[in-house]
Amino acid sequence: MKPSVLMLAPARPSAMERLARDYDLLRLDEAEDRDAFLDRHGAACRAIVTHGHKTIDDALLDRLPALEIVSCSSAGYDAFDVDALARRDIRLTNASPALAQEVADMAMLLAAAGWRRLVEADAWVRSGDWAGQGEFPLRRGLRGRTLGIVGMGTIGQRIADLAGAFGVNVAYWNRSERQVDAVYHADLVDLARASDILIVIVAGGEGTRHLISAPVIAALGPEGLLVNVARGSVVDEEALITALQDGTLGAAALDVFASEPEADPRFAAMANVTLSPHLGSATVESREAMSALMVDNLDAHFAGRPLLSEVAL
Ligand code: DGY
Repeated sequence: MKPSVLMLAPARPSAMERLARDYDLLRLDEAEDRDAFLDRHGAACRAIVTHGHKTIDDALLDRLPALEIVSCSSAGYDAFDVDALARRDIRLTNASPALAQEVADMAMLLAAAGWRRLVEADAWVRSGDWAGQGEFPLRRGLRGRTLGIVGMGTIGQRIADLAGAFGVNVAYWNRSERQVDAVYHADLVDLARASDILIVIVAGGEGTRHLISAPVIAALGPEGLLVNVARGSVVDEEALITALQDGTLGAAALDVFASEPEADPRFAAMANVTLSPHLGSATVESREAMSALMVDNLDAHFAGRPLLSEVAL
């Protein structure tokens, strides 16, 4: 008998085909009456496939007594109650390895664009009066600057690899020290003080809410650049906006926002801010690989093989 799998969010067509072929796929995402659907099918569900922005909490888990695994097609799983999963011995997998390269690329693109003020430069040319604007302010080069990475997981390590090509010195903060070729700072304010550019790439959720606080932003300083490719919730946006407005922080380059799918309009009003609509993993290859990894993890679980990208709970 095919294992019953509850779907909370649709996947790419190639993954949908595999799921429909190999599993008894239960489309909660399409159900008109969620309660009635769960009454009917919940007891049989052995797995959930979903994206990390769909809520998984005790209320849902109580309806799924046979649940063994949640396989997530995103890196982030901010809307999951991970303690509730751990208490019930439910395994969790995510898609970090499938998007690490793309998110790392995005982080370095934003770092370089923000540092060299590409958005302001673009506006000069578009203004139609390049000559009338005088000389674009000279910037210091990237080579020799210090890049601080907040979160040295799979993606953080890819960012560190790419950063080497720009000739920057890499430092990092992580909850624990890692075996990587970069300078470790156990204190985040210390890291910010030592950095010219700070790239944030930790998981979202309550545990990291406002990790990038006013003191961290102040330590980065008036020449500093903050890049966020993690989650909007990780940065205290009020403190960030104040620091950008009063010049105690030099610039920001943001792919993620606390109020997605909107960004605080005060960001758009500042020339020293580079904005992007959560595009870190947004390539065809990456989104295909993320969906495929979600199904690969499911296949591994039901075949009794090691999971490919399990999250330690
Ligand atoms: C992720 O996978 O968490 C990316 O941010 C895309 O949602």
